[in-house]
Amino acid sequence: MHPVQIVDLFAGPGGLDVAAEKLGVATVGVEWDAAACTTRRAAGLATQEGDVRRFGPSDFPDADVLAGGPPCQTFTVAGNGAGRRALDDVLSFVKRMVAREDREEIAKDLSKLEDERTGLVLEPLRWALEAIDDRDKPYRAIVLEQVPAVLPVWEAYAEALRREGYSVDCGLLRTEAYGVPQTRKRAVLIARRGNEEVALPSPTHRTYRKGVPREAGDNALKPWTTMADVLGRPSPFQVISNYGTGGDPKARGRRASSEPSATVTGKISRNRVVSLDGAELDRFTPSEAGRLQTFPIDYPWSGNDIGQQIGNAVPPRLAMHILSAAFDWDAPSDETLQKLDTWSSEVAPESTELIDEPSREEACV
Ligand SMILES: C[S@@+](CC[C@H](N)C(=O)[O-])C[C@H]1O[C@@H](n2cnc3c(N)ncnc32)[C@H](O)[C@@H]1O
Repeated sequence: MHPVQIVDLFAGPGGLDVAAEKLGVATVGVEWDAAACTTRRAAGLATQEGDVRRFGPSDFPDADVLAGGPPCQTFTVAGNGAGRRALDDVLSFVKRMVAREDREEIAKDLSKLEDERTGLVLEPLRWALEAIDDRDKPYRAIVLEQVPAVLPVWEAYAEALRREGYSVDCGLLRTEAYGVPQTRKRAVLIARRGNEEVALPSPTHRTYRKGVPREAGDNALKPWTTMADVLGRPSPFQVISNYGTGGDPKARGRRASSEPSATVTGKISRNRVVSLDGAELDRFTPSEAGRLQTFPIDYPWSGNDIGQQIGNAVPPRLAMHILSAAFDWDAPSDETLQKLDTWSSEVAPESTELIDEPSREEACV
């Protein structure tokens, strides 16, 4: 298929849009965060600033593909009671929406949820159903991405979308298996109109396991990409991450520059970078943190809380693979993937330093 335009809900700084534009597909993103919108505008990405809930498919009549990465905060706590309750709520709303229960009743009940962000994960389904019912022009493909805890929601979406005439696949993907110099797991759904089978993209690189050399493993796959492969630092280094340690110094994650980065979160500015003999080195710049997410080296990061913008994004390289699979295209060639190296934006980035700002959001992993 050859899409006309992707409407990207919760579009952030543009991880998915960068991939789509480099694949030659036009996008428009809906995003309410002023900082992310500043970056998007500096990059020249079409943007509707505002709340996704205030728009619908009829506001974007040209869009024939729907994409979305709704906020994850209520699901990253899936292990605790609030997360499980959120999941049960969402699954029952999926059923009511597909049964075409009265929209106002559903909206009223959604507004009563303990955490209003829980309902945001249902927005792509609302858009998909309204495109079928109201504008009589269903999206030709749908692409969704989120943290692993959201997979049960995507499974419920898959069942619903199959009944609406889509072929669907969903599952967990590891970013390093697609050449991203970072280990990060994401729950991904792709759907295409019709009966032809749809499949998540096949891995191109080996998965990373601590202590297993990159040369070992399936010969049909390339070795994983390292931080040193993409960052032009003059000497080897180690990254010491504070994330997820509960403050225990012994539990601090360490990754060498000869390995992929640990998951890039909104707190990346807190990671220390040290030489092999333990000397403190410069922490990652926005451009370097963006590179670990496979954003172009000259991506014009702008606005506040750039670390959070970067940590929120889907890695463009993974997004290229996902979009190609959703459109039933061949996997992107090396030449196409290399287009992600530069953005050639006219606008200079506003900041060359990652500042640890008090964040509105928890880091999503
Ligand atoms: C996980 S990030 C998505 C990142 C994006 N997929 C990318 O690749 O760059 C979620 C985004 O949703 C935005 N957001 C949250 N609630 C929103 C709402 N009601 N309307 C519009 N955007 C919203 C957040 O500001 C954040 O940028």
